[in-house]
This record gives sequence, structure tokens and C-alpha cells, in this order.
Amino acid sequence: MNLAIIGAQWGDEGKGKIVDLIAPHFDIVARYQGGHNAGHTVIIRRNGEDQKFVLHLIPSGITHPGKTCVIGNGVVVHPGALLTEIDELRAKGIEVTAANLLISNRAHLILPHHIALDRAIEASRGNSAVGTTMRGIGPAYEEKMARRGIRAGDLTDAAGLVEKLAHNAKQANRLLAMFGSDLIDEKQLIADGLRWSELLAPHVTDTTYFLNHATRDGKSLLLEGAQATMLDIDHGTYPFVTSSNSSVGGACTGAGIPPSAINATIGVIKAYTTRVGGGPFPTELNDALGEAIRAKGGEYGASTGRPRRTGWFDAVVARYAVMVNGLDALALTKLDVLDDLDELKICVAYKINGQVTEQVPYDADQMNAAEPVYETMPGWQSNTVGISNFDDLPERAQQYLARLSEVSGAPFAFISTGAERNETIISADVLSRCGLHLTV
Ligand code: GDP
Ligand code: IMO
Ligand code: MG
Repeated sequence: MNLAIIGAQWGDEGKGKIVDLIAPHFDIVARYQGGHNAGHTVIIRRNGEDQKFVLHLIPSGITHPGKTCVIGNGVVVHPGALLTEIDELRAKGIEVTAANLLISNRAHLILPHHIALDRAIEASRGNSAVGTTMRGIGPAYEEKMARRGIRAGDLTDAAGLVEKLAHNAKQANRLLAMFGSDLIDEKQLIADGLRWSELLAPHVTDTTYFLNHATRDGKSLLLEGAQATMLDIDHGTYPFVTSSNSSVGGACTGAGIPPSAINATIGVIKAYTTRVGGGPFPTELNDALGEAIRAKGGEYGASTGRPRRTGWFDAVVARYAVMVNGLDALALTKLDVLDDLDELKICVAYKINGQVTEQVPYDADQMNAAEPVYETMPGWQSNTVGISNFDDLPERAQQYLARLSEVSGAPFAFISTGAERNETIISADVLSRCGLHLTV
């Protein structure tokens, strides 16, 4: 049984929490796109206290002993960021070895000039900046598509790596000079490359064969999406998107597995909406209420610390994510953040230039012009933190959830009422309809 977990909004929906929660039921957890622009938070109780892990490149299954974590070919890997992440995990007593962390030899590397170019290109866009995480993601994928990239497999051949890095630095410096950016020190890059090679080469392998052979042999695979459907390079609010396919298609190309290997797909979605960076956001609340949701929800980027923009639940976006990914079910998170509100709004359609539509427009300007058509529901104004039985939720919260599910077009397999594993309502019934027989 192989399952894909996908962000259904603009990221930070709580994918890390859900992946960590269900990882014990899978043999392998794999990332398939994005890079260290992702920040997936996992909170676990160890030795009697809460421990927080923010994972950027390493799959959120890593805290579970005995699981194999895979960084797939579709991921862009910043070697330095990965080494820091490994060190931080080890410092917290999590085992990371060449046996439990595999890196695809086909995954492309993020190099220093990608980060310099990300900064320079963003600066040159002025008011229309994407608001990237400045992690070099776009320029690294550009170079991959231009067939000039350096891959993790290159780390396994030190002599070849030196040659490739020297050539790459010369090309990169021509580009950087055009932007007036500081140039790359070729000697330093080669010295760094040799260090990365020494430390990371033991993890590098052909994960395409590994994953296909493992699933053929009956091992189960949990695919962990990064970013989200509305940040997908093809399906998101272009150009205010990331540079990879974060929707389910990316799981096939980014892990090297066929569509038939994915048995079910679950979308993670917040009970409201957030977005970091620029770009259209029809249900955004630029007021005290938006600020109150940000404060209560702790809506600050897990990677960059930037305040997240906040707004009402957008069912136009939810339905689009259900359609594009073929979501079998949703994992709804952060219900508890809405506990204090006296009323709640759900956007069920957009009005764009006087026309009502239930579809996400392809164009960012049209999306910017979209006025939300809202339904209003009464709030429950009581504490739901930590509730793990649906029947214990206040009736009005149950009604809000029922309406969200109806207008989104998918049932809830999980309803999350807090950041910790046990703060979750699990629908065994919905999960079993997805082919998952989990007793979490
Ligand atoms: P991801 O990028 O999709 O993995 O999400 P992030 O980790 O960036 O952001 C989600 C944040 O919400 C993290 O700080 C989580 O610990 C937290 N979180 C997840 N689920 C819940 C929930 O149900 N309630 C509350 N209050 N926090 C949650
Ligand atoms: P997780 O996996 C939220 C956003 C950036 C920017 C746009 C492009 O934690 O949900 P990039 O650096 O990728 O070129 O930036 O995408 N973005 C995210 N927003 N969560 C993320 O990851 C994000 N990764 C990128 O803010 O708007
Ligand atoms: Mg995040």
C-alpha cells in the first residue's frame, strides 16, 4: 500500500505532522520534489518532554527507528543544508546513517551561485517579486532543465566532480557578472565539493531501482509532498509558485515510480488558509482578525520565520486540489486555531469582473481580482485543543467540518486539533475506503 501526502493550499498545512503520525505504518518515506525551501514541523514526546523537529530535506519519517527515508530524484539538494540537518538530528539523538537515509544519484544539487542568482533575480523583479525563500530553488531547477546541472551521483566520483564544479563555476560566474553579483571562488567551491563528496557519497544510490524493487517486494511507501498544489509550477498561481511539481504528478517523476504504484492520495489542508511570499490570495484577511489567526496559529514560516499571510478557508482552492491530485481524502489541520471566533466564513466561489465562477483562474491577475463569495457559519467558541474523538467536538465545529468537507468534495481522514501526534481525530472508516487499514 503506497500513499501520497500532498499540500492542498499554499504550503505549511501540517504535512510534517501527518507524515510523522502515519510513518510507523510504512516501510519507506520519500520526498520527491522541492528542496530546503520546505519546513516540515514534527513535534514528538521523548523522555517526558516535547521535542520539536523542523525538517527541510529529510523526510518526516526520520524520527521513527527502522524506517528508510529517501530523498528522491526530483528533489534539489543543498549539500551544506543537508549536512547541517543531519548534524542537528544526530545532536537530538536521532540516528541518521547511510542505511536509513538514501539520496537519489539523479537528484540535482543546489550550489552557491543558485542562491546568489535567486537573490539577484528577486531583487530585479521589484514589486512583482515572488517572495522566494532565497534557497536557490528556482535557479537550481532552471539549470536542471537546461541540462547543465550537477547531480548527487557526481559526489561519488571525486575526480569527475572537481572537473564538473570547475566548469560549472566558470559558467556561473558569467551569469553572476551579468547581475553584478559577487563571483564564486572556484577553489573554495571545489574544496566544499570534496567535503560534501566525502560526507554524503555513502548515502547516494539509485533510489529509482530501490523504490521500485522495494514496492515490488511488498514494502509500503509513503510519499511526502513539499510545498503544495497552489505553489505547483504548472497548476499553481503562476508565476507566484515554486519551481517544481508539488502536486501528485511530481510524485511519479520525482520518485521514479509509475502512477499505478500510488494507491491513494491524501491532501493536507488547514481549517483556514495561509500563504507566505507574494501572489494572489483571494480570502486574505488584512485586518485584526487576520493578525489574531496568525498569532493563535503561530503562523510564521518554519524555514524563514516570515509571518504567513492568513485568511478564510477557500473551497474553490480545496476543490481544485481535490481535482488536480485526485484526492481520496483530506487531512484537516489546525481546527483548534479557530476556537475563539464568533463566526466563520467559507469562500465557495469567486466573483471576477462581475462574473461568478467556481473555478481557479489560470491567470494571477484574474486571481488577484477575485472577490470571494462567502457563506457564514457560527463559531463554537470553546476549546477543541487535543480532542481526539469526533463526537467530543462542539456541535458547531462538527457542522463547520461537515460543510468544509461538502464544499471541498472529499471526506476527512484526519482532523487535527493540535501539533502533537495524539491531538488527532482519525476516521478509520475513511482510511479504509482509501485502502488504508491503520490503527494509529
Ligand atoms: P508543513 O510545511 O505542511 O509540514 O507545515 P509546517 O510545519 O510548516 O506548519 C504547520 C505548523 O502547524 C507547525 O508548527 C505544526 O507544529 C503546527 N500544527 C500542525 N497541526 C496542527 C494543529 O492541528 N493545531 C495546531 N495548533 N498546530 C498544528
Ligand atoms: P512547505 O513544504 C510555504 C513559497 C515561497 C514563495 C514561493 C517560491 O513547508 O509547505 P521558492 O523558494 O520555492 O522558490 O519560493 O513558494 N514556498 C513555500 N511556502 N511552504 C513551503 O514549503 C514553501 N516553499 C516555498 O514563500 O512564495
Ligand atoms: Mg512548512
